[in-house]
Formats: sequence, structure tokens, C-alpha cells
Amino acid sequence: MRVEPRARLVGHIAVPGDKSISHRALLIGSLCESDVLVEQWGRSADTESTLAAVRALGVEVDEQDVDTLVVHGRGLRGLVPVPGTGHVQCGNAGTLARLISGILAFQDGRFELVGDASLSARPMDRVAEPLRRMGASVTDTEGHLPIQIEGSPLEGIEYELPVASAQVKSAILLAGLGARGRTTVVEPTPTRDHTELMLEAAGVNVRRKGRAISVEGAERLGLDEVLVPGDISSAAPFLVAAALLPGSSLTVHDVGLNPRRAGILEVLERMGVRVGVTSRRRIAGELVGDVEVTGTHELVATRVTAEEVPTLVDELPLVALLGAFAHGETVVSGAEELRAKESDRIETVTAGLRAIGVRIEPRPDGFVIRGTPARPRGGTVDAAGDHRIAMLGAVAGAVSREGVKLEGADSVGISFPGFFELLDSASQ
Ligand code: S3P
Repeated sequence: MRVEPRARLVGHIAVPGDKSISHRALLIGSLCESDVLVEQWGRSADTESTLAAVRALGVEVDEQDVDTLVVHGRGLRGLVPVPGTGHVQCGNAGTLARLISGILAFQDGRFELVGDASLSARPMDRVAEPLRRMGASVTDTEGHLPIQIEGSPLEGIEYELPVASAQVKSAILLAGLGARGRTTVVEPTPTRDHTELMLEAAGVNVRRKGRAISVEGAERLGLDEVLVPGDISSAAPFLVAAALLPGSSLTVHDVGLNPRRAGILEVLERMGVRVGVTSRRRIAGELVGDVEVTGTHELVATRVTAEEVPTLVDELPLVALLGAFAHGETVVSGAEELRAKESDRIETVTAGLRAIGVRIEPRPDGFVIRGTPARPRGGTVDAAGDHRIAMLGAVAGAVSREGVKLEGADSVGISFPGFFELLDSASQ
């Protein structure tokens, strides 16, 4: 498809419910003793993989509306092996594959997890290894999917995460619910804490001390309701496009502003963009608010280092595009994790932005961008099957001189099926 240049983005929009929290609502909801009402659930190909997975494992879920679900929890140890093929299809969803591994490790029976080609190329040993230390029976395929899990008695462990990954942390904490004693995860850098917040809301005693998070083996979980905030990772392409188009004034309502997720707002402000946050409130532990961005001609380069990376890991492709417009050299470092995402995002961001005329150099752990305030030319961007690269290509088209031919645009459906319609409706 072609994405034509836009003059500005204006008005008031809302984005679908947060993908990370939507996965967790289904997974943790499945372990609850009773029914859990999930509102503003973010429906996408990825979260539908989780919906299908929990159903395959015996959980009944009513779809009252496109974004309203009732999860009939089966209790902490109530998941059952999948009849027929016997496998749980994780599709493209890394969060599903990692988190459910921790849960299945203490269920009764044998389970197999499979995924699409992209997910099957992503590391699973980072989850399998600590789970084995807890006593889990996990067989992976050279560190990847397919993996087989046979439920077994687990023991709590203390584990230092070798990578800053919320998915790995969550898998271990979820396994900890079914383990004897205390399970502690120590993070190198704080990562998103949606699992901890939802477990606390479900009555689990989650202790945090410095970089360590602990849970005890649980008896029962109970959640009445989860109201999912808007996904800041889905809001980000719109906020960045508005920032780069002078004359824009765009408000995204009801966005999740968890401080461990909202790093893109700090980066925008640091680069000279006016960002206003109003109606700040807390819903079930999660911070929410309305975010307004005003477009500017005057962007300054910035540096993003390892400490900050987890707060905007999925938004780093967009930071590269911001850097393309900024005076000076924008440097992203400490972000080698980008190589283990839905694509190798250091390579796909470099290829995508070079294709439209941006001066960007890849580094082993990030990239360096030499900016100029003029709009980049445009060209052909290949999404490489990665939804975040497809959205990067679309925003790049909107802020370019000649537009972008976007190959593989349909991959936006992995996280944000209505993305292009919303972009059109907010554009002038
Ligand atoms: C996620 C954590 C991040 C992020 C992914 C979703 C989560 O991955 O990139 O899109 O829901 O916990 P890592 O934890 O592997 O960094």
C-alpha cells in the first residue's frame, strides 16, 4: 500500500487496550477462582492467539462485545491438556509463549507450544532455563519453539535475570505462584510491571525490594474486573507523527502511563516536543491519562542508553525516526534486545529508514542517526513481517516529501488492526 505525505495530525483519538495487559488479563484471569470481566480489551491478532490458547486449555471466555470479555477462571491448577493436536498455537505472540510457559510448568499434564516462523526464531531458552531450575520439565528445540512442558512440582528460586525482560520476569513469577516457598526475580534494570500489578490486584502478596521482586506460592487468585488502559505503544506512532508535523495538535485519550512504559514521552520532551498530560488517574494500579502533543520544527538530538531502554523498547524504531528530524546525532545504545524482537529491529529499522533517505548507522546494540529538519524523501519500506516496522514505515510515509510504498502493511494487525483508518481520520 502507499502512505501519502500528510500536513498535520489533529483532534482527539483513542487507541485499543494495552496488548501486554490484555494478554495478562486472559492468562491471569484463567487462573482465578471465578469470573473476571475484562473491559477495553485490546483485540488484535496477538491477543486473539492468547484467547484461542486459553480456550484450547479448557477456559471458557464469553465475548460480550468486541472489547469486553468474561473469563471463567478455572483456578490456579485448572488448565487441561489440549485435545486433538495437543499443541498450543502461539502464532506471533512472544508474550503468550513466554508467560504461558511459566503457568503450564505446574499444571497437570503434557503441553506443547508452537508458533509461526518469526516466533520460532526467537529465544525460548531464557524462559526454559530458569523454569528447569525450579524443577519444571521443559524440552525446547535448540533454545526455540516447539517446546514441550510436562507439569511438575516446582520449588521457589532466586534468579538474576541475565537480560532486562518483562516477559522472562513474568514467566518466573507466574511459575512461582505454583511453587513451594518463595520465588524471587532480580532485574538488571526495571522493566514493565504489569504482571506484578495484576497479581497484587488478584490478592497475591508481591514484595518488591530494590531490583528484586518476590512472590510466594499462592492458594487462590481472585480478580473481579480488569479495565485495560489504551496502549502507549499503539499511541506512540500517532504522537510521533504529530510531533514531526508542525501545526499538529493531537490528543490521545485514556493512555496507559505506567512509568516503566512511558519512556517515549520523556524522549519526546527531551527532544523539544511539547507534551501535555491531563486527567491523570490510577486504575487497578495502572496510571492512565490523556496525552496531547504539539508539532514542532525544532527537534534536538538525544541519547537513549540501557537504563532507559526497557521503558520504550517497542518505541525505539520511532525514536530513530525522530532522530532523523533532529539537529545533531541521536544515539540509541544498550538495546541489543532489539535483535530478538519480531524481526531484528536494528537491521529492519536501518534498512527501512535508509530506504527513505535517512542517514542511520546500525551498531551491535542500537543505532546512530544524523538528523536534518527537512522531510526525508520517501521510498519503499519493507515491514519484514514486523508490525512495529509496518507502523514505522507508515509514519515515515506521513512525514516524508513523496510518500512511502509500504510492503507487508497488513502486519499492523498483529497489535493494531484499525491503525490505517485511525491514521486517515486524524490526518489533514
Ligand atoms: C512485553 C515485554 C517486552 C516487549 C513486548 C511485550 C510484555 O519484551 O518488547 O512487546 O508484555 O511483557 P521483553 O520482555 O522480552 O523485553
